[in-house]
Formats: sequence, C-alpha cells, structure tokens
Amino acid sequence: MNLSTTYLGLKLPHPLMVGASPICDDLDLARRAEDAGAAAIVMHSLFEEQLALENRTHEFISTHGESFAEATSYLPRPHDFVLGPDAYLEQISKLKRMLKIPVIASLNGHTDSGWLRYAKLIEQAGADALELNVYAVAHDPELTSIEVENGVVHMVEHVVRETKLPCAVKLSPYWTTLTHLSRRLEQAGAKGLVLFNRFFQPDIDLEELDVSLKLRLTDSPALLIRLRWLALLSGRVNVSLAASGGVHTAADALKAVMAGADGVQMVSALLQRGPEHIRAVRAELERWLVEHEYDSLAQAKGSMNLARSPNPENYERGNYVKILQGYARLVH
Ligand SMILES: Cc1cc2nc3c(=O)[nH]c(=O)nc-3n(C[C@H](O)[C@H](O)[C@H](O)COP(=O)(O)O)c2cc1C
Repeated sequence: MNLSTTYLGLKLPHPLMVGASPICDDLDLARRAEDAGAAAIVMHSLFEEQLALENRTHEFISTHGESFAEATSYLPRPHDFVLGPDAYLEQISKLKRMLKIPVIASLNGHTDSGWLRYAKLIEQAGADALELNVYAVAHDPELTSIEVENGVVHMVEHVVRETKLPCAVKLSPYWTTLTHLSRRLEQAGAKGLVLFNRFFQPDIDLEELDVSLKLRLTDSPALLIRLRWLALLSGRVNVSLAASGGVHTAADALKAVMAGADGVQMVSALLQRGPEHIRAVRAELERWLVEHEYDSLAQAKGSMNLARSPNPENYERGNYVKILQGYARLVH
C-alpha cells in the first residue's frame, strides 16, 4: 500500500510524524522514533522569551546589579529552558548527523522582531523545515483583530526573508476568520499550516491562591476541532496541512487525512506509550486502507473535506443545529 505524502515539499513515506515536544531533546528517543518508522520529527520550540532573555539579563545585570534580583525573578530563567539557543542549534546538527528522516525545527513567539533571525541560524544548522508557532494571548482592549492578524502575517514575511527553509505556521483555533488568515499566510510565503497549537489553560489554585499551570496530555476528542478546520481549509488553500492534537490511534490519523491533512503529528500518544507506538499506528492505518480497498493513502486524502463530504453543512452550523435539536428530544 502506498502511504506516501508530500508535506512542506518533503516527500514522506507516510504522514505520521513526531510533533513538537521534548522527544527530540533526547537523541536516544529521537532514534527510537526513527526506528519505529516516524516519517519526520519536529523539535521542541526555541522561544522568543528565551532569545530575548539573554539580552535582557545582560542589560539588567550590567546596569542594576543585585538591586533587580526581584524583578528578574519574574522573567523565565535560563534553566527553565531545556536547551539554550546555542545548544538548540547544536542539537539540530546532532539530529541531522544521526537521523535519515527530515528534522523540522520550531520557533515559538508572538512579536515580529529580532529573534526571528534565528530562522537563518536554524537553516545553517541543517534543519529541513521550520515550524513557526505563533502563540499569543491578545487581551489588550486597544488591539484590534486586524492588527493581531497583521502581526502574524508580518512574522511569516520576516521568516521567509530570513530563510529559504519551507515554513509551516502552527496556529491556534481562536481566529475570527481562519480561512482568510490562512490565505494571507499563504500569500506571505508560508508553505504549511499546523492545526492546532494547544493553549495550556491556567487554573486557579484555591489553597495557594495562585494561578497554577499543569500539563495535561490530550485524548482523541481533541482531534474534533482539528478535523473541522482541516476539512474547511482542505482544497481552499494551496499549502500543506498538518493535524496536531488528539491523534492517538490509526482511526484518528485516518480521519485527519480524510479531512485533508498531508501530515499527522503525534505527541501525547507517544509520551504515554513511547515512540514505538508510531509503528503500530502505521500498520493499522495500512491494514484499514487495504481492508477497505483503497489504492493508496492519496485516494483517501481530503475525501471528507468540505467540498467532498456527503453532508458539508455538518462542518458548519448544520451540526450545531442538529445536535442541539437531537439533545432536546432526550429531555422529558
Ligand atoms: C510536553 C510537551 C511539550 C511540548 N512542546 C512544544 C513546543 O516546544 N512547541 C510546540 O509548538 N508545541 C509543543 N507542544 C505541543 C505539541 O506539539 C502538540 O501540538 C500538542 O501536544 C497536541 O498534540 P497531541 O494531542 O498529539 O499531544 C508540546 C506538548 C507537550 C505535551
């Protein structure tokens, strides 16, 4: 069975890859992922705060010495990040020397500024592609949605000026008009979209009276919002699409492909079951396609997108109306 796909211009034997996560921080885990058949691997991100931190810490210490100890404690500290910028670039080179599969590096930030020059350094270190994760919480009441969107588009233009690497933009689902923004990102030079970033939601600790942060891994229902937007974008933008979020089983991966994904990223499932889980998902994917008499994975790709699904209205308001009406009948 031919499971091949093209993602960001990279020819892959199948769509299953390791998503951005600490898996690539550990060379042994990265090798296990390749041995298990991962088609590509995405590194964890290099963060804007991390790159700005070096300069800021320098400024603080040289101008104010110890008097700013309290102020600096609000900033992330260098040891909050697993790999510093130089170690990150070195890790790209090590992964490239060790692995045959494509290595996709990741930059994560929210402002169009100097830190984006790292795109060039990432290219020089040997990465095959770049993911730009634009994670921002736009809460300033003076900021308009068009200003926020323009900011993201300018970041992509900046990265595309810095590097020839194909760039995928990892987005959150919380945009007013995601389809329009996606077209603007395509025009800005993005070669792919990763749907979606996960916002880790803060909680309130009632005992400590503090805002607490806790990492929660996903399960399959997290895929649903990805399926909807993959289906709505598939065939309407001329860029690669990747699913990120809620892919745990071969059925999840198949749904993502049928909705229109060229690439399928997995993190939570691999952290829970080990990188070897990719092998089982790939085998089951192939078995399903054979059993259902598909010629290739390409035949399934996009077959359930907005244009081709039997009930396209279910991707829009249709499902909302039907589900709410159906629920009303359950209440006596
Ligand atoms: C421990 C951990 C670390 C992560 N680090 C990053 C990161 O550095 N950059 C990034 O873009 N996404 C990061 N993610 C998000 C994942 O790439 C992915 O988008 C998210 O976990 C949803 O996919 P999943 O359901 O397969 O876990 C991280 C996720 C986890 C669980």
